[in-house]
Amino acid sequence: MTGEIITLQIGQCGNHVGKQFWSQLADEHGLNRSGESTQATTNTTDNNAKTNIARDDFTTPFFKENNNSTRYTPRAIMIDMEPSAIFDVQNHFPGFFDDRNTWISQGELGAGNTWAKGYDCGTTNEDTFLNMIDKEIDSTENFEGFQIIHSVAGGTGSGLGSSLLEAISERYPKKFLSTYSVFPGKESEVVVQPYNTILTLRRLAENSDAAIIFDNNALLDLTGKVFRDPKTDYDHTNQLIAATMSSITNSIRFPSYMYCSMPSIFSTLVPSPDLQFLSPSFTPFTSDYVTQTQTHHNTYKRNNTAYDVLLDLLDPSNSLISSHVNNPTYFNVFNTIIGNVDRNDITRAIGKIQQRINFAPWASNIVHVNVGRRSPYLIEKKTNNTCTNEINGMMLASSTQILSVLDRACKTFDKIFAKKAFLKTFEDGNLFKNGQDEFIASREVVQNVIDEYLAATGEDYLDEVLIPDENMFGDYNDTVGHKNIDDEG
Ligand code: GTP
Repeated sequence: MTGEIITLQIGQCGNHVGKQFWSQLADEHGLNRSGESTQATTNTTDNNAKTNIARDDFTTPFFKENNNSTRYTPRAIMIDMEPSAIFDVQNHFPGFFDDRNTWISQGELGAGNTWAKGYDCGTTNEDTFLNMIDKEIDSTENFEGFQIIHSVAGGTGSGLGSSLLEAISERYPKKFLSTYSVFPGKESEVVVQPYNTILTLRRLAENSDAAIIFDNNALLDLTGKVFRDPKTDYDHTNQLIAATMSSITNSIRFPSYMYCSMPSIFSTLVPSPDLQFLSPSFTPFTSDYVTQTQTHHNTYKRNNTAYDVLLDLLDPSNSLISSHVNNPTYFNVFNTIIGNVDRNDITRAIGKIQQRINFAPWASNIVHVNVGRRSPYLIEKKTNNTCTNEINGMMLASSTQILSVLDRACKTFDKIFAKKAFLKTFEDGNLFKNGQDEFIASREVVQNVIDEYLAATGEDYLDEVLIPDENMFGDYNDTVGHKNIDDEG
């Protein structure tokens, strides 16, 4: 049975991306901005009572419902060290979020882009956060896991996010922990971003089960193309992230018989706990997902079969990370295709993808495709629109493409760390009282991740988990995620 998922949005980026994510989910589940079901009908025998007409979407994983299923509240916790992003979300969605699930620092005005400040704030308030999480878990029946949305470069999303990653994986070791992590653009906007990024990458490597990576280079390039407007901003990039998040969770919210839970989706993708960094692609961004629908009409027309869309997903220009790895090695691929698709097109596309991409020698070349369902509420909204037969695709890949992002993070870190530049802002942090060991250890962890990805391109990568006598793989669950998936729940 599909379990409930708690979303934690941390810092400015986390809360702004979260705003778009919930906006997308509200649209897909027929909810208005206060969480009221647009399908609710007034009961004729009692004018004050409303009832909900039957739904065949599945709201429980992401929403709590009131007694007569007319009002839905996100299973979300919003955390920030300054109020503006959370106020913006609350103003946009009056009464939608549970007020108990909001935490804004009283004493500070942000972490000033310093990981150490965010991290210490996280550890100081750890009990409060875990209490909020426990209370939220109390309203679940089959709690499955967490998704964290944050940036790795600001002080709160990275530092407080890191401390929460550690606290959550220690407190709930059997629950699935995924992250949607936004990396900075090529040019750091703030000088200490490389430090923040490496310190956070260590926690993603050590504490998450799956980390879905976005980078602002790729996002800003894409928004320029998608919106055909040079003046795009974070509101636009965040729509692209929300489209991806919505598609990843489509099979959980509109369930069929496969990929109905986070572990079932990610276990197809994460072949070893050390290869949990995933790169997303999406195409085309149609009006189901982004504003300014007219702009996308043409794009949509060109990609109107599942075959076209699935192959287009391999084009680096549709990736939400910028990667310069030529001919990357793939370990696993998971696609969601949404819309009115012809299954023969999918079969043909899978054959082509298998020929086109370079799988690691030990990896099976299975291309996982979830045929998702387009929300009936989105279709209904557009009955008068010519664009009713949209097909959208999302790909999550476990591949060496991610090395570009990791390399870039290491290079920018090495450059400033070699000069011991800008370390002063970290000196007051509890982890830095005795010097720079934390930086050195974190950089080492990230190097190990890079080395692991490189090793995974080799033929003998899985040799140690082969049982020599039987020529079989060892316990499958030992190789998937950090936890035994059968133990979940
Ligand atoms: P402090 O401001 O130090 O308290 O930390 P914070 O975590 O709130 O900072 P923020 O989330 O603003 O992180 C800064 C990084 O995130 C920079 O790389 C920004 O480019 C990026 N960023 C901030 N907001 C957004 C957003 O809404 N979308 C995207 N894609 N990136 C964002």
